[in-house]
Amino acid sequence: MKIKNICCIGAGYVGGPTMAVIAKNNPNINITIVDINADRIAAWNDSDLSKLPIFEPGLAEIIKSNRNKNLFFSTDINTAINNSEMIFISVHTPTKTYGKGKGMASDLKYIELCARNIAEVAKTDKIVVEKSTLPVRTAETIKSILHNSGSDFKFDILSNPEFLAEGTAVNDLLNPDRVLIGGESDEAIECLANIYKSWVPQEKILTTNLWSSELSKLTANAFLAQRISSINSISELCEQTGANVNEVAKAIGMDSRIGSKFLHASVGFGGSCFQKDILNLVYIAKSYGLNEVADYWEQVILMNDHQKRRFSDRLIKTLYNTVSGKKIGMLGWAFKKDTNDTRESAAIYVTDHLLNEQANISVYDPKVPHNKIQTDLNYLNTRTEDENEAGVSTSSSPYDALKDAHAVAIMTEWDEFKTYDWKKIYADMKKPAFIFDGRNILEKSEMEKIGFEYYSIGQ
Ligand code: NAD
Ligand code: UGA
Repeated sequence: MKIKNICCIGAGYVGGPTMAVIAKNNPNINITIVDINADRIAAWNDSDLSKLPIFEPGLAEIIKSNRNKNLFFSTDINTAINNSEMIFISVHTPTKTYGKGKGMASDLKYIELCARNIAEVAKTDKIVVEKSTLPVRTAETIKSILHNSGSDFKFDILSNPEFLAEGTAVNDLLNPDRVLIGGESDEAIECLANIYKSWVPQEKILTTNLWSSELSKLTANAFLAQRISSINSISELCEQTGANVNEVAKAIGMDSRIGSKFLHASVGFGGSCFQKDILNLVYIAKSYGLNEVADYWEQVILMNDHQKRRFSDRLIKTLYNTVSGKKIGMLGWAFKKDTNDTRESAAIYVTDHLLNEQANISVYDPKVPHNKIQTDLNYLNTRTEDENEAGVSTSSSPYDALKDAHAVAIMTEWDEFKTYDWKKIYADMKKPAFIFDGRNILEKSEMEKIGFEYYSIGQ
C-alpha cells in the first residue's frame, strides 16, 4: 500500500515535532494532526509562530514552511481518521492516579479511546501505529478493540516508539540513532519504513517483533535514567570525600565501554517520561511476580527523589538552618534547557520543600510564565492557591528575581545563565551570598573570586 494520507492523534510534544519532520521529508504525503484540545490546535494554527504550543529549536521554521501545504492541524478527528491510510496514536500515557496500579501503572484510557474511535469511524483498511510509549503487550489490547469492532476492514498494528529528547527534538528526529518498528505484517512494516527512508539511512531502521519494540522503549528510558541516578549517587559520596563528580564522570566516561553521555550529576532528572516509564516497568515486573527486577529499577526513582530532597536540605542547612522569610532566587523552572516543558521538573519539588520552610521564592525562567509555575505548584495539592501565590513570585528579568536574595538556586541549565553579570548579581544580594548550582554550570573558582559562597552538586 502506498501511504498518501497520515493522521496523527495527539498534537503534543511528540505528535507535533514528529509529524512536522515527516511532513518536511515527505512532500507527497498529507499529514493531519488532530487533538481534542481545541486551544492547542488553535495555537498550532496561530500565524504568530511565537505562540506555537511547544517551544523546540528549529520547529517553528518547519511549521512555517509546511503548515497548510502538507501539514494540517485540526480538531476534526473523525474526518482525519477516515481520510488516512495510516494513523499514529501519539496521546499521553501518564501514571495512573486512581484505582489498581495507582501511582505506578500507565493510564491507558486515552489509548483505548483512540482505538475505539478508529474502530468506530474507519471505512477503509488502516495501519495503526503506536507512537506513544506503552507497556509491553499493549498492542494486544489495541488489536482486540479493533478486531472485535464488527468492522469489515483490516487493521495492522505497528509499534514505532519515539526516542526524541525535548530541547533537541528536531535534530533528534532529523538524525535519529535508530528508528524502531515492531510489527507482525511485513507489508505494514515496509509502508512505515518507506516513510522514514526518505531521510533516515536504511541501516538505522530496525525492525523487531511487536513486544520487543514496546519493551525496548521502556528499557531505553530506564537505562538512561539509571545512569543519572548512578552518577547522582556518586555525587553525594564526592561531597563527603573531596572527590569532584565532574572529574569522576570524565574519568569513567573516557572508558569506551561506559561512554561519556548522560553522566551529568544534577539536582535530579525531571520530564514527563523517565519517572513514569520506570514506574511502569516496575509495575509490569511486579505483575509477573518478578520482585527483584521491580526492586532493582525502583531504586533509580528512589535515588532521584533523594537527590532533589538533599539539594533543598543542603540549602536550608547552609543558610543557618532556616530559610523562613528569606528570599531564594530560582533560575530555571523547565525540566531541562531549551524547552518550555515543566513536567516533573526538579524545581517544583525543591520549591515545595522550601515553601514548607516558609521561604519566599522568586523565579526567573526564559520560557516558563508565572501561571504555569503556579499551576505546577497547585497540582501538588500541598497548599492552597493563595499560599502558592504568596510564596512564589516570578520576574521577567533574572536581575530582579535575584535582587536582595539570600541565595540563588540554579535548577535548569539554560545557557544564558552563564552569561549573566554575576558581579552585579552579587552586589545586589544579601551577604553572605550563596549559589546552589543544581546543574554544575558555573565555575566554582570564578564565583568564589566574586565573593559568593558556591555549592554545586558533587563538589
Ligand atoms: P502531550 O501531553 O504533550 O500530548 C498528548 C496530546 O494528546 C494532548 O494534546 C491531548 O489533548 C491529546 N489527546 C489525548 N487523548 C486524545 C484523544 N482521545 N483524541 C485526540 N487527542 C487526544 O504528550 P507527549 O509528551 O507528546 O507524549 C505522548 C506520548 O509520547 C507519551 O506516551 C510519552 O510517553 C511519549 N513520549 C514522549 C516524549 C517527550 O519528549 N515528551 C518522547 C518520547 C515519547
Ligand atoms: C528522554 C530521553 O532522553 C528520550 O530518548 C526519550 O524519548 C524521552 O525521555 C521520552 O521518552 O520522553 P527528555 O526527558 O526529553 O528525553 O530529556 P533528557 O535529555 O533525557 O533529560 C531528562 C532529564 O534528565 C532532564 O531533567 C535532564 O536535565 C536530566 N539529565 C540528563 C541529567 O540530570 N543528567 C544527564 O546527564 C542527562
